[in-house]
Amino acid sequence: MLPTKENIQTVGKALREGMLAGIPTETVYGLAADALNGKAVSEIFKAKGRPMDNPLIVHISDFFQIERFSLVREIPKAVYALAEKFWPGPLTIIMPKGSAIPDEVSAGLDTVAIRFPSHPVTKAVITAADRPLAAPSANTSGSPSPTTAGHVYHDMQGKIPYILDGGICEVGVESTVVTLCTDVPTLLRPGGITPLQLESVLGKIQISDAVLHKLKDGEKAESPGMKYKHYAPRANLILVKAEDEKYRDFVNSKADNTVGALCYDEDEKFLNVRTFVFGAKNDYSSQANRLFDALREIDETDIQTVYGRCPDTEGMALAVYNRLIRSAGFEVIELA
Ligand code: TXA
Ligand code: MG
Repeated sequence: MLPTKENIQTVGKALREGMLAGIPTETVYGLAADALNGKAVSEIFKAKGRPMDNPLIVHISDFFQIERFSLVREIPKAVYALAEKFWPGPLTIIMPKGSAIPDEVSAGLDTVAIRFPSHPVTKAVITAADRPLAAPSANTSGSPSPTTAGHVYHDMQGKIPYILDGGICEVGVESTVVTLCTDVPTLLRPGGITPLQLESVLGKIQISDAVLHKLKDGEKAESPGMKYKHYAPRANLILVKAEDEKYRDFVNSKADNTVGALCYDEDEKFLNVRTFVFGAKNDYSSQANRLFDALREIDETDIQTVYGRCPDTEGMALAVYNRLIRSAGFEVIELA
C-alpha cells in the first residue's frame, strides 16, 4: 500500500502490537518488527527462513532513542562523529549491546547493530510505532535483497500483513556495517558509505577478510551474515575479470540460448546473448542501484549460465563486488 499518513499510522500501530511489515528504506526494503519484542522478532526469522544465529539491525528515527530505549551499554565516542557526518543514512554501527535488546535481535552476541535511516517513510514508520525497529532485508534468506515493493511481495506474499510501497530504493545495496567493538574499527560489510568516507572520521580502519574473500571452512565470521551463501540466482553465475573487448569476445564465443550476460550498459550492444544490465561501467552508484533487480531478472528466465562482469573494488564498487562475488559463489575467470 502507499505510504499515506493514514497507512503509516496503521503500520506503526500494527508493529507496536507485534506484527511484521515490509517497509522501504534508502538502501533496500526491510522486514520490520518491534526490536524490543523478542516474540515479534522471531517471526521475522520464520518469514525469511533466516538462520537464528544471524543478528538483526535495529533502526531508529532519532539519535536520542539509543539512550531512551537502552539499546546500548555505552555509546563509543566515535559514534558521535560518525553520526554527525553519516546519519541519517546508509551506515550501521555495531556497539556494545544494551539491556533492552532481546537475544533474538543480537543472536546471543554481546553487541548490537544500530542504524538511523534517511528515507522519510522509514523515519515516519519508526516514529509512528514509537519503537526502534529490527529489520533485515525483506527477502527470503539467500535471495537478492529487495529494492522494490514488488520484490518484497514476490518473496513475502501470504507471510506478512503489510507492505508499504515507497518506490525504488535509491542506494540499492544494504548499508555499510562498521564495528566499533574491535581494537581498530572494522568494516564488516561495504555499502553506500565507502571505506574512505569512514576513514575521514575514524582514521585507519580494518577491512574484514570476509568482505573480499571466501571464509575458509570453520573460520569464524565477524559478521555472521557473511558466512552464508547469498544473493545467488538459480542460474550458474560466473564472473569474468577482463577488459571490455575480451569480456565481450569471451561471452560471444559461448553464445547459445541458455547463456546470458550480467553486464554494463556499454556492453549490451556488442553481445549476442540475452543481457541483464547492472548500470554503467564508471558509475558505481548506478551499479549498486541496479544490481539486485538485474539478479532477480535472471530468475524470470530459463537462462542456465550467466557470465557476469567482475566489478571494480574502489569506493562504492566495493559494495557491488562484495555482493556479486557471493552471487557467483566466488567463481571468477580471469582473462589476461
Ligand atoms: O541497509 C540495510 O542494512 C538493510 C535495511 C533494511 O536497513 N538491512 C539489512 O539487514 O541489510 P540484514 O539483516 O540483511 O543484514 C544485517 C547484517 C548481517 O550481515 C548481520 O550478520 C550483520 O549485519 N550484523 C547484525 N548485527 C551484528 C552484530 N552485532 N555484529 C556483527 N554483525 C552484525
Ligand atoms: Mg539481508
